Amino acid sequence: MKKIVILISGRGSNMEAVVHAARQEQWPARIVAVISNKEEAGGLEFARSHGIATAVVPNKAYASREAFDAALQEAIDVFAPDLVVLAGFMRILTPGFVAHYEGRMLNIHPSLLPLFPGLHTHRQALAAGVARHGASVHFVTAELDHGPVVDQAAVDVMPGDTEDTLAARVLVQEHQLYPRAIRLFIEDRLSIDNGLVRIAESTAS
Ligand code: GAR
Repeated sequence: MKKIVILISGRGSNMEAVVHAARQEQWPARIVAVISNKEEAGGLEFARSHGIATAVVPNKAYASREAFDAALQEAIDVFAPDLVVLAGFMRILTPGFVAHYEGRMLNIHPSLLPLFPGLHTHRQALAAGVARHGASVHFVTAELDHGPVVDQAAVDVMPGDTEDTLAARVLVQEHQLYPRAIRLFIEDRLSIDNGLVRIAESTAS
C-alpha cells in the first residue's frame, strides 16, 4: 500500500478528486495526510470529514523560505509518503526541499506547459489568444512549473471566454487528469528518462 501526502493552500477540489478516485477505484494506496500552509484552507475540512489526518504549517510563522520548507518537510516525513502531491499548493519551493522529494513529488499546473508558468494562467492564455488551453501534471523540479510532464488535458478557448469561464472548464479536466496521472505513479508505471516521462504499459489484465 503506497502512502500519499497531499499539500494544499485553498479550496482543495483537486485533492477531493484524488481522494474520491483512490477510494472508488480502490487504488493500492492511501491518502495518509493533507497538509496546508494556510489554516483557513477550505480543503482541510473535507479531509477531516473523510478521516484523513491534517496538519497546518503556516508559512507566515517562519522567517525564511528555508525555515518554512524544513518545517514542512518534517511535517510531511512523519507520514513517510511514497508520493507527495501538490494540489493548488501556492508556494515556491527551495531547491533542497525539491531535491528531497525528487522523483516522488507531482504538481498540477493550469496551463499546457511549457506555456504560461507562474500565476494567472487563464488570463495569460486569453491575452495570448491561444485556441487551446488546459492543464499539465508534472514531476516537480527546482525550476517553477517545469519538470517532466506526465500528462496534459486540453480545452478549446471559446469566443467570449473570461478568466472565470475558462478556469472552470479547465478545472473539470484537472479533476480527471490528476487522479489518472497519480494512478500511473501508484502502479509504478512512470519513469524519467533523460528529462522525459516514460509510461509503461499496464500489466493489469
Ligand atoms: C488549480 O487550478 C491548480 O491547477 C492551480 O490552483 C488551483 C487549485 O484549485 N495550481 C496552480 O496554479 C499551481 N501553480 P483546488 O484548490 O480547487 O485544487
